[in-house]
Amino acid sequence: MHVTVLSGPNLDLLGEREPEVYGTARLADHVERARKVADASGWTLDHFQSNHEGALVDAVHAARGRSDALVVNAGALSHSSWSLHDALAAYEGVVVELHLSNPAAREPFRHRSVLARVSDGLVAGMGGLGYEMAVEAAVRLAKARAEPGAGPHGSG
Ligand code: DQA
Repeated sequence: MHVTVLSGPNLDLLGEREPEVYGTARLADHVERARKVADASGWTLDHFQSNHEGALVDAVHAARGRSDALVVNAGALSHSSWSLHDALAAYEGVVVELHLSNPAAREPFRHRSVLARVSDGLVAGMGGLGYEMAVEAAVRLAKARAEPGAGPHGSG
């Protein structure tokens, strides 16, 4: 089983960018910790970061039929990208939306996620734990779904 982790615009600057909001860990640190979580479940993980909306759309397309789950921290595109919304709507696996900060507790423009409707769940506000928690959630949700007779969110 395989999980793809996507990171959007400006997340390449984690560790330098607004550390009071996003912490001091770098993106590579988050991904390394998330990979350990995937490894522990016998899953493989790939990660892709881009500052470009179209490249992220392409990455969602590439995950179709190949990845069992997506963890998506789309950065500010979470609040605006209908093309990413539509790409995720065409993806059949589990989708976990991720934010390190808690957008609901921040500026009003961050309160709406256009990806929420095409996500199975959300991990937000967990800071440096976020990437690993989101991968854990994605793996468990995908496993629960694969159980015979499980509903859309597994059997519990
Ligand atoms: C973010 C939250 C977004 O509102 C913001 O634009 C980001 C990072 C987060 O991880 O908390 O770039 O997705």
